[in-house]
Amino acid sequence: MLDTTKLPEPKNESAISDEKVKKHIKLAEINYRRNTESDYTEKIEKLDKNFDYSTNSNYYWSEPELSLLYGTPLYEQASDSQKKALNHLYWAIQYNQTAATEANTVLYNQVTAGVFENVGGYDALCKELDLETVQERDHIHAFHTIGYKTKKALLGQAGFNASIQGKSYKNDLAKKAKTGKNQLFSFSFSASPLSAYGESSLRFMTNKVFLKNQAHLYSQYLRELEDKGESIPAHTTGLLGQLAPKPLLKFFTLNCGTSPFLACLFYVARFMANMLIKNYEYRYSIYYRELEKNGEFIPAPTAVSHYHMLDEAFHTTTSQLIAQDLYKDFAKPSAYEKFLANLTIYRAQTVGLSGLSSGLPAIFRNDAPFMLSLHTLLQSPLFGMSSTEALEWLNKCMCTEHEGFHVTLKYHERLLTDLRRLLDPINYLWAVNREMHVMEKGGSISNAIESNAKAFEQFSKSLAV
Ligand SMILES: [Fe+2]
Ligand SMILES: [Fe+2]
Repeated sequence: MLDTTKLPEPKNESAISDEKVKKHIKLAEINYRRNTESDYTEKIEKLDKNFDYSTNSNYYWSEPELSLLYGTPLYEQASDSQKKALNHLYWAIQYNQTAATEANTVLYNQVTAGVFENVGGYDALCKELDLETVQERDHIHAFHTIGYKTKKALLGQAGFNASIQGKSYKNDLAKKAKTGKNQLFSFSFSASPLSAYGESSLRFMTNKVFLKNQAHLYSQYLRELEDKGESIPAHTTGLLGQLAPKPLLKFFTLNCGTSPFLACLFYVARFMANMLIKNYEYRYSIYYRELEKNGEFIPAPTAVSHYHMLDEAFHTTTSQLIAQDLYKDFAKPSAYEKFLANLTIYRAQTVGLSGLSSGLPAIFRNDAPFMLSLHTLLQSPLFGMSSTEALEWLNKCMCTEHEGFHVTLKYHERLLTDLRRLLDPINYLWAVNREMHVMEKGGSISNAIESNAKAFEQFSKSLAV
């Protein structure tokens, strides 16, 4: 039982009452108890262990609109078996991205729990964060296993040479950027303003300059890593990992591992990621319930999505509690902290929510990072096209208006409404973040086509070199 006699001292000038602090603690306790009593993670583990692609290959894993290239001219011409394969590949792609985002969560749950522990009085919340970390590890394992077996069955080794995550193309672009041939990815390690500083300088800037009054709250988790001589942790994949180059991410780690306010800020980004995942995962869950109601076969990936959504409901409660309320328990943020918080959310919008994909439903980015992978997919045995044919089809799918864009726009509108409602109570956010202006601007099919057309031209040229 939580010792509520050890309450954190509220320091916010808005004079948060003891009652409110107690309410936060109570909510965290209830959420932790309910999560402990649930068995969704165990169900996911079992499905992961027993997954066999061939048993699930003849079924749709969701309604057809959650399929790679859905609504494009190519999809209209695809055979039934190609359509099923595109439905399965979409699951593998979405959950590969989800796994990367949850790997960010594993790291920052530990970093921030180390700060809340130092503040004191948040035992149930810290236990919940530990439990969530363990659950995320199991989720990630299941996503990777099922995704790997699916891609292997459908694409063979070629599927891993271009993983449809944009990685290979990104690497290709990074190489080209070095030679000055491509400027699409403007952030590079060498361009970072912090790349010239070593880790000791980053620590000095955090603890002695920007957050010097809070250095005593420095996360125990980071202190232990430091004592072992390990470098400052930062991931460069997942939503958070793409916000900035690595030195800046390390600086971010130190910041949210020192300031309770910035520890809470991480949960605003996590809350956004929770909602982004729920936006499509909810559809899998509805599909699961329909199959269950009709007594039909339920494919294992559909069940994993369903149980994951249920597990994530606890995580979303945690994110919401910290993002909307808990920060008010602590000292009012400095101008620097507010600036860093807003910059982070602004970057999250820009990186993950500022466009519309033509061929990846419910993904709110334009298609430049996916072109090489899709080009490779069209040349795989699944479609068997020549390089020229694949290029022609890519052009039709990415650079002309079709139903696929409208499907993604529908998901975009839903998420935009949800995020605006959920971010509204966070008083330190700039209007551009609270009202999601960057995301709103990205909800334009004509802008997406224009951006894709430019990227496609560059991509075609890069193949010709
Ligand atoms: Fe998860
Ligand atoms: Fe989660």
